[in-house]
This record gives sequence, C-alpha cells and structure tokens, in this order.
Amino acid sequence: MKALLIHLFSIWILLIQFLHLGICGSCNSLSKRCEMRTDKLDKLLCNGGFQKNYLNSTSVHPRIIVICQVMSSSFDPAFISNFPQLYRLSVINSPNISKFTQPFPNHRLQVLNLTRLGLVHLHHNTFEGLINLRTLDLSHNKLKQLDRHIVEHLSQLQQIFLRSNNWDCDPHLKWVLNPLLGKKLMDANQMTCGVSKYKGKPVLAVMSFIKNLRNECPKIDSKSCNCSLDLIVWSPNKDYLVPVTTVNCSRLDLDHFPPSIPSNTTTLLLTGNKISDISPLLTNPKYLDVSDIYLDENQIFNIDKLEGADWLTKFRVFSLKSNKITAKKQSNRKNLLW
Ligand SMILES: *[C@@H]1O[C@H](CO)[C@@H](O)[C@H](O)[C@H]1NC(C)=O
Ligand SMILES: *[C@@H]1O[C@H](CO)[C@@H](O)[C@H](O)[C@H]1NC(C)=O
Ligand SMILES: *[C@@H]1O[C@H](CO)[C@@H](O)[C@H](O)[C@H]1NC(C)=O
Ligand SMILES: *[C@@H]1O[C@H](CO)[C@@H](O)[C@H](O)[C@H]1NC(C)=O
Ligand SMILES: *[C@@H]1O[C@H](CO)[C@@H](O)[C@H](O)[C@H]1NC(C)=O
Ligand SMILES: *[C@@H]1O[C@H](CO)[C@@H](O)[C@H](O)[C@H]1NC(C)=O
Repeated sequence: MKALLIHLFSIWILLIQFLHLGICGSCNSLSKRCEMRTDKLDKLLCNGGFQKNYLNSTSVHPRIIVICQVMSSSFDPAFISNFPQLYRLSVINSPNISKFTQPFPNHRLQVLNLTRLGLVHLHHNTFEGLINLRTLDLSHNKLKQLDRHIVEHLSQLQQIFLRSNNWDCDPHLKWVLNPLLGKKLMDANQMTCGVSKYKGKPVLAVMSFIKNLRNECPKIDSKSCNCSLDLIVWSPNKDYLVPVTTVNCSRLDLDHFPPSIPSNTTTLLLTGNKISDISPLLTNPKYLDVSDIYLDENQIFNIDKLEGADWLTKFRVFSLKSNKITAKKQSNRKNLLW
C-alpha cells in the first residue's frame, strides 16, 4: 500500500514537472520575465513584456523572440533593432495592446505574429521598414480596416492572416477581392464583418456584393444614383446570402426609367423626377424582381398598362403619390398608393 502511494506520488511529481515545462515553453509561465529556452538556445521567451536588461547583453543572440501577456495598452517595437539576427517575432496573447507607439524599425524580420492582441487601427507605415517580411499574422484583433498600402508595399509578403477582427466591410476593404493581394490572404474565407449591418457575414461575399452594386449603380447623363447594400441575410436554408439593396435615383431630373439597374435591387427610389412612361416595368426584365418602387412626384398620368402584368403579382410597395393619375378603376391592392 505504502509502495503504491509512493509510486502515485512520483507520477504526480512527474506530471507537475511536465505541465510546468509545457507551460514555460508556451510562454505562459507565471513569473514576469524573459528566459532563453534551454533546448533551443536561439529562442527568447518573455512573459509580461520585453526586459530591457537583455538589450545590451553580448551573450544573447535570439533568432526568435516570443512576448506574451503584456498588460500595457501600447507596444514599442523599437527594441528589435538590437537583434539584427532576429527573423521571427511574436507579440501575442495581450488583448490590452491596442496600438504600436511607433512604426517598426528597419529590420530584416521575416515572420511577425501579432495574434490575439487588441489592435484597433494600424497606421499605413507601421510595417514599412520590414522589407523582408514574408508572414504577418494579425488574426484575433479588433481591426476594422486594413490599409491596402500595408499589404501592397511589403514586396516579400507571402502570407497574411486576418480572421477574427471587426472588419467594417466598407468599400475601402475591397482590395481583398484583388487577385494579387487576395492570394496572400491565407484565411480570407474565415474573415467576417463586425459592423451591425453585416455582422457575422463573410467578408468576401459582402465585398463582392458591394463591388457589383457599385459597378452596376446607374449613371444617367453624368447624374449618379446612390446605391447601398442595406442588409445581407441568409436564405431560409442558410445556403446562400440574399442582399437587400436600395437604389436611390430620386430628384435627378430623369424623364425616363434608368435603362439598367443593379441585379438584386430590392428598393428603387425614383421620387421627384419627370417620368411619365411606366412601360419599362413591363418590358425591362431588370425590373421584374424589384419589390418596392417609389415613383412619387413624377408626371405619370396613367397606369392602365400595368393591368395583368407579371410584376404586379410580385411587388410589395408601389408608391405613386403626387402624380396626375386619372384612375379608371379603383385598385384593390393595399400597397398600391396614389
Ligand atoms: C545599453 O548600453 C547603452 C550604451 O552603452 C546605454 O546607454 C544604455 O543605457 C544601456 N541599456 C541598458 C538597458 O542597460
Ligand atoms: C489589461 O489591463 C487591466 C488594467 O488596465 C489589467 O487588470 C488586466 O490584467 C490586463 N490584461 C492583461 C491580459 O494583461
Ligand atoms: C502565431 O502564434 C499563434 C500562437 O502561438 C499560433 O497559433 C499561430 O499559428 C501563429 N501564426 C503563424 C502564422 O505562425
Ligand atoms: C448614399 O446613401 C448612403 C446611405 O443612405 C449615405 O450614407 C451616402 O452619404 C449617400 N451618398 C451620396 C453621394 O448621396
Ligand atoms: C444576386 O444575388 C444572388 C444570390 O441571392 C447572387 O448569387 C448573385 O451573385 C447576386 N448578383 C450580384 C450581381 O451581386
Ligand atoms: C434619396 O436621395 C434623395 C436625394 O438625394 C434624398 O433626399 C433622400 O433622403 C434619399 N432617400 C433615402 C431613403 O436614402
């Protein structure tokens, strides 16, 4: 019995030692300091921040530095100038770090891992001095935007990781669709938008809806409509995304319907124009799927043509306030307004 207890006790001790080693190795040790790995003499692990007394040490030439659990809200990367042989730097698991106090210095660093920080914004020249940078991990931060310049100007960059951020999915982010830059994005399919309108929706899909909408947004005699992606929702079976869009061509002095409108237009606003002919609703297939049309304050006299049209069976709102309609028959459709 005693022997068994002693045996169990020694297993317990071994287990503790094993856990302790494991924890140290992954930069989670409780002590707040830097230490060289004993098995890998070129790797410096720092918990809680970089320790300045390593700066002038002539015996320490780490090629890898891992810094974690930094409590402060900003981080100064200048110290890497003291380690010209450094090729991999990780500053990780420090959600309080929201920014860098200055750009990274000129350095031949190849891998920069900045995962699980609280980065909110990166200045466009933050990484400009890292001319040899090949891999950049910015996953699990709070970034809303990433200036295209950051990716474009790192000529050696091959891999960038950006998932789990708060991407605002603003038109500025459309560089993710650029084939040259996009192919460096290793986790593009896992990137999701963080703003409420598109929250949780895949960045690539949202950006391509926005791009298509902008390309197809009508311009008529140098006058531009305003097209916006208001919302994006999953289909009932969650197998594809359905955009909800508004195309606003109000008060542009138009005397006819735009010849073409973006695919997937949900709401079309044509208020305050000089339109009199509504036949495009019957003849132009682009208009078949629009569910809300506002034609208030135009010069429409007659809507008899619409009788029996396909479109009339599908629409949600057809608003004709302040026109000059002389109705022959009273419509019994609730949403036909004039
Ligand atoms: C490193 O050395 C320089 C000059 O030798 C000195 O000015 C600096 O204070 C030293 N830094 C540290 C952290 O000891
Ligand atoms: C973040 O900062 C707060 C105080 O401002 C501190 O209590 C907390 O431990 C810090 N978190 C980390 C992970 O360092
Ligand atoms: C960055 O570090 C984290 C945590 O150690 C790791 O999971 C991730 O794979 C690293 N990223 C890259 C690109 O190596
Ligand atoms: C277009 O509409 C959006 C949303 O309604 C608005 O934020 C934006 O300022 C408008 N742009 C123009 C040029 O009117
Ligand atoms: C219109 O929406 C469908 C899915 O609802 C999508 O497959 C298609 O690409 C969209 N068209 C454009 C031009 O965005
Ligand atoms: C549509 O555009 C007009 C003129 O620019 C503007 O007054 C109106 O508020 C816009 N409507 C919507 C719903 O964005």
